[in-house]
Amino acid sequence: MKSNVWLWAPVAASPALAAVILFMPPPISDKLEFSDDAETLARGEYLVTAGGCVSCHRGVGNEEAFSGGLGLESDFGVFHVPNITPDAETGIGGWSAGEFARAMRHGRSPSGGFYFPSFPYRSYAGLTDEDVVAMGSWLMTLEPVRFEAPAHEAPWWLIRPAIAGWNLLAGFYQPPAEEFGDELVERGAYLARNLGHCGECHTPRNSLGIPVGNREFAGAELGGDTVEAIDAAALGEWTFDNFDLFLLIGLKPDGEFVGGDMNEVIEYNTSRLSDGDRDALAAFFTRHRRED
Ligand code: HEC
Ligand code: HEC
Repeated sequence: MKSNVWLWAPVAASPALAAVILFMPPPISDKLEFSDDAETLARGEYLVTAGGCVSCHRGVGNEEAFSGGLGLESDFGVFHVPNITPDAETGIGGWSAGEFARAMRHGRSPSGGFYFPSFPYRSYAGLTDEDVVAMGSWLMTLEPVRFEAPAHEAPWWLIRPAIAGWNLLAGFYQPPAEEFGDELVERGAYLARNLGHCGECHTPRNSLGIPVGNREFAGAELGGDTVEAIDAAALGEWTFDNFDLFLLIGLKPDGEFVGGDMNEVIEYNTSRLSDGDRDALAAFFTRHRRED
């Protein structure tokens, strides 16, 4: 029997199709719009704080502005944080809300290019439309600052298109989905996993720098320093109140104050959370104690 060659067409086309899917940026939503509503802007300012954007995007020599320039050291080189003030040329002034949302959740620039995961977009991927738009709306009201961050210092082989493969692989290392059946813990999970991106530092990474989801919060190395585990096993002795106080002032149950990069997380991020959101994080991280 003679085979019909066309039956093989889908097979031949599938690697090409896979490549297209891998590189094709997700569409830019035209349904999202920045808002100048006072309530949205206040919420956006709060979320930018809770999201820890200032830890990385604060201006070198201009701490009050989100004009960037800091060099983030990593195993893969030094990544210089860009300007996210609304300057049209050196910042995000010309961006639409859809472009902003795609950058935050998919790590793709307005032109479709790949961001490096030194920008924690994999954590921000779970942010709601409402929260992303509120953050972008508030950033757009800031004083534009003209500043271009220096180029990244990455090895020659680390080119942006390589991140297509990284993104695909990272998808296989997602933490398992969980149902909590408790609103406060649910909110805490959103703050820990998405907005507060605690796993970016506390979850161990494999040799490609992908956080290993089934070892979520099991502790890691960060530029040669040890980042403690904050999973159920490690937090065995911590109560809800211990955790709450820690997020506010950095005091641990053993009476020591935390040091290192966590100091900044406390100063710029968790100490400025609302009481409700701090409680939510504490409830999420100490939920295992509620089961005993
Ligand atoms: C851990 C450090 C870090 C944190 C935290 C962080 N960013 Fe970034 N961000 C980066 C880096 C690094 C880049 C550039 C990545 C690249 O060049 O590929 C970036 C890029 C961006 C871009 C793209 C800018 C451009 O010019 O293309 C936007 C928008 C952005 N970040 C917004 C935010 C917001 C909003 C927050 C807080 C919710 C945030 N980032 C938190 C490190 C960070
Ligand atoms: C920029 C990296 C970074 C991020 C983001 C981060 N941490 Fe940390 N964290 C650290 C480091 C580093 C330490 C260890 C500090 C030290 O040496 O005292 C630490 C320590 C801690 C400790 C103390 C653990 C112990 O047993 O001593 C807790 C609890 C903690 N972090 C919770 C969190 C939570 C909750 C979040 C998210 C809201 C978070 N961290 C986000 C880097 C980070």
